[in-house]
Amino acid sequence: MTAKLELRDLEKRFDETVAVKKLSLSLEKGEFVSLLGPSGCGKSTTLAMVAGFETPTAGSILVDGQSVEGLPPQRRRIGLVFQDYAVFSKLSVRANLAFGLEAKGVGRAERAKAVQAIAERLDLTNLLDRRGDRLNMSEMQRVAIGRVLVTEPQLVLLDEPMSNLDAALRASLRGEMKLIQKQLQQTVLYVTHDQVEAMSMSDRIAVMSMGELQQIGTPEEIYRRPRNRFVAEFIGDPPINLIACEVQTGGGQVAVTTAGHRGLVLGRGSAPAGRHWLGIRPHDIRIGTGGSFPVRFLETLGAEEVLHVEYGGQLLQIVTPTGQAREGDRVSLQFDLRRALLIDAGSDAVLPIESFGVAA
Ligand SMILES: Nc1ncnc2c1ncn2[C@@H]1O[C@H](COP(=O)(O)OP(=O)(O)OP(=O)(O)O)[C@@H](O)[C@H]1O
Ligand SMILES: [Mg+2]
Repeated sequence: MTAKLELRDLEKRFDETVAVKKLSLSLEKGEFVSLLGPSGCGKSTTLAMVAGFETPTAGSILVDGQSVEGLPPQRRRIGLVFQDYAVFSKLSVRANLAFGLEAKGVGRAERAKAVQAIAERLDLTNLLDRRGDRLNMSEMQRVAIGRVLVTEPQLVLLDEPMSNLDAALRASLRGEMKLIQKQLQQTVLYVTHDQVEAMSMSDRIAVMSMGELQQIGTPEEIYRRPRNRFVAEFIGDPPINLIACEVQTGGGQVAVTTAGHRGLVLGRGSAPAGRHWLGIRPHDIRIGTGGSFPVRFLETLGAEEVLHVEYGGQLLQIVTPTGQAREGDRVSLQFDLRRALLIDAGSDAVLPIESFGVAA
């Protein structure tokens, strides 16, 4: 039932705007892939082309190896949940959930069973008899998601389906949606600009910027081995620290000197000499006592704190367990170089360096 989706050199132009540029991407059967990127990067346009609401300017879309060119949306056997989701306001939640099944000719008893099951999963059982126009945002959004999932489409497209929900609901719905998707083995293309959503639900994440695919990989790969500066900075919260550094190479080794540290050996590899960026995530810096770097201020997250530490004219963000430092303290800093990235200041590419596996 579930389908494989392939996008080949897909492109969409609106007059001067290139909304999507040569996008190639493939989703295996049962795979959950997120399109992640800032506003205007072409996520919704991509989804609309797969759904059949926009015609590509170039390139092709294949479902199970067959081009869907020219097929109207209703013939693409795709389930869709949009940012501006639609719920029939005059129908009950039950009727809303049953609508797609009825259209597919599913019998009454089977329909009732499926509606009951999806309602339980989405916490809608108490609302089954409520009319669509009596629901709050969160309830409506869950009905919109339920309506699509219950029909078990071979391909599910979701465009920011949780954007109107509060944080707690989003968190619980993330887990629930992932479970349903796994159970039904659905192929899902999920659009979001929320990295937590993408990281927590996806098998793979496709990061886009200005219509172009920047990288596709597992959440771990995208976080630990970003290919370029855009991906490195877009993923991670608080964002990665980019520290100005001077690169020295010799004997196949790459080392850097920063405003506060000399000769940090990153590993084996090659890198163009000169000034580049050393990327270190806020979780990969340890603080110690008796150093020379002043803590300018701190933000409490609860169990952890974000320290803003002055380092050679810039502020580094460092995540530490709460209570390790106070405003005005001077601390020493230790970078976990196994996890450091060296980013070419000219091309913005992350340079390949084979780490020696030491912290320094
Ligand atoms: N119908 C249209 N006519 C003209 N330009 C459009 C049209 N639809 C989208 N665009 C442009 O194409 C680009 C990509 O838009 P798109 O809606 O795909 O971005 P998005 O990644 O979904 O953003 P958001 O996160 O804000 O929803 C934008 O520059 C947008 O202004
Ligand atoms: Mg959009």
